[in-house]
Amino acid sequence: MRKPFIAGNWKMNKTVDEAVAFVRQIRHGLNEIERVDSAVCPPFVALPAVADALRGTRIGVGAQTMHYAESGAYTGECAPAMLVPYCQYVILGHSERRAYYNETDEAVNRKIKAALAHGLTPIVCVGESLAQNEAGETHSFVSGQVRAAFADLSAAQATLCVVAYEPIWAIGTGKSANPTSAGNIIGLTVRGTLADLFGEDTAQQIRIQYGGSVSPENIADYMQHPDIDGALVGGASLKPSFVDLVRAAQ
Ligand code: 13P
Repeated sequence: MRKPFIAGNWKMNKTVDEAVAFVRQIRHGLNEIERVDSAVCPPFVALPAVADALRGTRIGVGAQTMHYAESGAYTGECAPAMLVPYCQYVILGHSERRAYYNETDEAVNRKIKAALAHGLTPIVCVGESLAQNEAGETHSFVSGQVRAAFADLSAAQATLCVVAYEPIWAIGTGKSANPTSAGNIIGLTVRGTLADLFGEDTAQQIRIQYGGSVSPENIADYMQHPDIDGALVGGASLKPSFVDLVRAAQ
């Protein structure tokens, strides 16, 4: 039985002071929700203060990206060991990282291995563009992304990962994907590819989130699909009503 998991990807939003004030506002409400795992993913600079504000709660903390190297001349990056004191999770391969910072499938694969080696849970993002969707390439493209991300991993390692299926055309647009279609892509394409790679038992253990314009109003529709195990939430995770969204996922 997969426990639902809702994570908030804050992207480049909130100063450290705003981040701390916000998590103080939502932590009591989120902490009362036992049947759903929740996490917030603030920008790097806010991770220590947010982790501190959430200590002793059931709310997780995640980073939004990470380098795969242990250390070195990588200006602007953070290594896995730098995140470990503050994070349980790390979002990897978000479409914005792939589009704006040239993050490749190969880099995502290396990052997943590095995260696992340091005991961090990767939230591995995949999803097709509007053009690919309209050209009928969703299945082949997303399946390819899953294969590349999980290359050379063992089944045991794969079960430690979370996958987020985020169709790019649904991110930040208010045009959320139809829950049945999204659930079917998650079930047939994402979980189906994981089953090809690691076997059905392993695929059934991996939590797969939907992401793209998720709101307190539509989350219940997604959760009704048996293959959708939660959500990776952008804009709606920045507001106090994120608590209502997580509650509605129960
Ligand atoms: P929105 O919820 O703002 O559409 O963002 C989704 C997303 O990219 C989460 O990673």
